[in-house]
Amino acid sequence: MVSSCVRVERDHELALIIVDNPPVNTITAAVREGLRQALEEIRADRDIRAVILMCEGSTFFSGADIGEFSGPPREVEYRTLFNGYEALGIPVVAAMHGTVMGGGLELALACHYRIASGATRFAMPEVTLGIIPGAGGTQRIPRLVGAERALEFILSAKPVGVVQAMEMGFLDHAVEGDLRTDAVAQTRSWLAAGKGPRRTGELSVRPATATPEVFERAAEQARKLYPNRNAALVAVEAVRKSANSSLIEGLEFETARVNECKQSTESRGAVHVFFAERDTRRVPGLGEDVRATPVKEAGVVGAGTMGGGIAICFANAGIPVTLVDADTAALERGMANVERTYRSMVDRGRLSAADMAQRMALIRGTLDFAQLRDADVVVEAVYESMSLKHEVFAKLDSIVKPGAVLATNTSTLDIEKIADSTSRPEAVIGMHFFSPANVMPLLEVVRTTRTSPAAIKTVMELAKPLRKTPVLARVCYGFIGNRMMEGYAREAERMVLEGATPRQVDSALEDWGMAMGILSVFDMAGIDVGVNVHKANASQYPPDPTYYQADFALHDAGRLGQKNGKGYYRYEKGNRTRIDDPEAIEILRARARELKTAPRQHSTVEIQERCLFPLLNEGFRVLGERIALRAADIDVVWTSGYGFPRYRGGPMFHAEVMGLENLLSGMRRYADTFGPMHWEPAPLLVELVERGITLAEWEKR
Ligand code: NAI
Repeated sequence: MVSSCVRVERDHELALIIVDNPPVNTITAAVREGLRQALEEIRADRDIRAVILMCEGSTFFSGADIGEFSGPPREVEYRTLFNGYEALGIPVVAAMHGTVMGGGLELALACHYRIASGATRFAMPEVTLGIIPGAGGTQRIPRLVGAERALEFILSAKPVGVVQAMEMGFLDHAVEGDLRTDAVAQTRSWLAAGKGPRRTGELSVRPATATPEVFERAAEQARKLYPNRNAALVAVEAVRKSANSSLIEGLEFETARVNECKQSTESRGAVHVFFAERDTRRVPGLGEDVRATPVKEAGVVGAGTMGGGIAICFANAGIPVTLVDADTAALERGMANVERTYRSMVDRGRLSAADMAQRMALIRGTLDFAQLRDADVVVEAVYESMSLKHEVFAKLDSIVKPGAVLATNTSTLDIEKIADSTSRPEAVIGMHFFSPANVMPLLEVVRTTRTSPAAIKTVMELAKPLRKTPVLARVCYGFIGNRMMEGYAREAERMVLEGATPRQVDSALEDWGMAMGILSVFDMAGIDVGVNVHKANASQYPPDPTYYQADFALHDAGRLGQKNGKGYYRYEKGNRTRIDDPEAIEILRARARELKTAPRQHSTVEIQERCLFPLLNEGFRVLGERIALRAADIDVVWTSGYGFPRYRGGPMFHAEVMGLENLLSGMRRYADTFGPMHWEPAPLLVELVERGITLAEWEKR
């Protein structure tokens, strides 16, 4: 035993370094120290003829410790350690399994031979965290697979399997059967064949793979795949360096660049979101004494768009689920949709036919509410109508066993009122899934003033098997996400009335980094869906005659979005490509004339600011009113549910990057132009600017 997580075992002439740092063998400081000591021990023992490096548990090293990003640079320490293994005078074999990423793969590349069990996956996802591989990856992988394939691998950031790794040339042998047994046998056969150390660092990059055209194409690809970001371009430079430098020079270059990258906003933003996602489950006041109900059986009411997707989430988690609808045809349609979703996963090779059968068997469709009696959690997903929700919850109250959680998937209705229709308001909570429910990672968990801590904990913990990122919110119109969407969407619609084209608005937002422009989102979701929400909530809307009038104008003209091939854009049948449509633009202009909306020229910056400032500003209200627990939770909602770019860290993180005083003065500037109705700065924003403190300082109090 050389340290608590690294030990060296002997098998005659072989030394096995075995690392055990659960859950995923992250290369923490303790692991590095253990590996350093193991190296010394091996250097001192002349009887050892080869070394096998492997990990216990679910995976070989999954990567570096991202928690160290914000601390002092560690690259030199990594480099010295990895170079130490590479320099050994006896063969070093990395024996891998699981998901080998980033620093874990870089260590394997510094070993002399690499073998892996059949299901192993390898990736260098660093550019998605705004950095480049920093422990030798940019210098060693091109020496093994050529610059061209190294660039593809680093830029795609996607995992490859064993077959592809062998084809690329960084994996020597695929293991069948037990990893350790095979590793020992394979190492002995290499020794018997007289094979010695084979140092990656001593290879040169094959010149044919490292032509100027290769790097130009890669740079172009980097700009296309990672707009507004720099890390991917830096990675291209680092790989270029590998082609014309010694390993030592290349590593120096890599270290300098990766440390610059870590200071960048794109890296700080992405790392912030990474940790924010891990933290959302931490709820103050929900201590050990609060017990979650284990969910062994679930129910879903309403077999429509959302209900079907939610049932799939339960089945995927291995939880039997009863799907109830009031209507035979709707139930049949719902079950057919579930089956179609699974079938397409099988067709795309994402699921085996046997797994599909197993999951389908977990979903029981019925018209009989009494079948919900034993469910531990029931999620209601019927039409968005308060009277219907009342009826359904009263029924659930009379049927479902005591202690069960009664959840609603409502987007806009007051969950306090929904809870009033039961005799157990403490059991009622919002579970707000996003469409498609089986795909989108976000789950807004909405507590009322009466929801019990046990119900909150049950749902926050249930999110894990459902593979959702839960964010806790309190009741208000739109909760966290849709509430912040209000101003963002309002301005986009207002600008097309003022004469901007839908494409101009969407492109400005997409150029800024949003996954999809909001008007395209409306076309995808259905203009009628938005209009129904506007109608249902008209009484709460501000006295602005232009409010959401673009939606109404298109809807009045029978344009429902992609579903009937025309909305803000036009669509060819069976094709989602948006085509500019003069007819839509004329409809919007005509409505603007009726409303006497003053026309205006819009710069890209104005479009971005008018959409984003209200969005960010509302975030400060949501936080100030304690609708969200933490600023970082708001960032998670928008990055995981609304296509906000992770590299900008989410709306609250971005507000600080742009400067809170700039946001405040921006809001005031637009208030001067358009009047105060929609441009009132949030009290918390004003407070932070006046006191000159950051969000983190305010949250600490
Ligand atoms: P949908 O219209 O696709 O499905 C509603 C289903 O409920 C239908 O199958 C209908 O037959 C069934 N139903 C109606 N009355 C019933 C009753 N008394 N008992 C049992 N089943 C009944 O609706 P969708 O889009 O799935 O929405 C459901 C809920 O989810 C709504 O509250 C909506 O606001 C919310 N939501 C919808 C999202 C979306 O993108 N569609 C996103 C997030 C939440």
